[in-house]
Amino acid sequence: MGRSRAVAYNAPLESVGSGARLSRIAYVNGRYAPFASAGVHIEDRGYQFGDGVYEVCEIREGALIDETRHLARLQRSLDELRIAAPMRTPALKLVMRELVARNRVRDGLLYIQVTRGVARRDHAFPKAAKPALVMTARSLDRRPAEANATSGVKVITLPDERWARPDIKSLQLLPNVMAKQAAREAGAFEAWLIDAHGFVTEGASTNAWIVNAQGVIVTRQADNAILRGVTRTTLLEMAEAQGLAFEERAFSLEEAFGAREAFVTSATNVSIPVVTIDGRMIGDGKPGPVAKELRARFHEVAEVS
Ligand code: PDD
Repeated sequence: MGRSRAVAYNAPLESVGSGARLSRIAYVNGRYAPFASAGVHIEDRGYQFGDGVYEVCEIREGALIDETRHLARLQRSLDELRIAAPMRTPALKLVMRELVARNRVRDGLLYIQVTRGVARRDHAFPKAAKPALVMTARSLDRRPAEANATSGVKVITLPDERWARPDIKSLQLLPNVMAKQAAREAGAFEAWLIDAHGFVTEGASTNAWIVNAQGVIVTRQADNAILRGVTRTTLLEMAEAQGLAFEERAFSLEEAFGAREAFVTSATNVSIPVVTIDGRMIGDGKPGPVAKELRARFHEVAEVS
């Protein structure tokens, strides 16, 4: 038996809704490949330099959530780093759907990664490299997120030690990785990152929000200091449509301590209430009504395609 067949046979099995099992499939540079044996070259610049960008899109009941916004942000990240698009948008959308279908994902997430490609290691852009595209789709058990939404989660704070362009969804996530690990070790769900002036930027992998003492929803303006979360954009649109008071501005840790509510947002988590920050209770220490309402209604307003 050929080696590749043996590897394919040993591909990890993913359970799907019905309890049936199937081998996972990844998309790698023009091919659908068994997940277990899918790989990229050791001189892929994503691997060597973090020279690439990514997107995470929620899959819900087999459909993509807020695809247009995720693809627009992907294009923006590519443009900022001067990486060419690996394929045209209609083709990309087809691959996304094909991958969801081949993996039979009903509820889960789609991961898209584009790097500057494979080239001999040299910091400056390679002349001839083609952008490399990798995509994976996987099922996600919604229960942990639901449990977090019901109980609320803990957050710790850390200095924001990232580079000056977190608005680009780049693969360089080491400060985010270190911050998330610190949160895990502290028994917290997320780490909020604090800038040099004492203001909250965002979480390691989520946007940060409060409902302040005056009842105003506050989340940092989407400048270069944060990632413009797709969930954030959709929820702000929803707040506006509902006539809720909101402000896009920096808020300090002090303001957060005195807030009625705090919460975090990201694709697949929607909004998760925060009940303590650095061990200090927020509001009455229970998930607040605004975070709950935004969570409950998100999928009524998000794009489904
Ligand atoms: N993280 N801020 C950061 C630093 C993030 O990494 C993310 C998303 C967000 C929320 O963005 P969105 O609402 O578009 O998911 C904010 C993804 C999910 C991740 O890295 O897995």
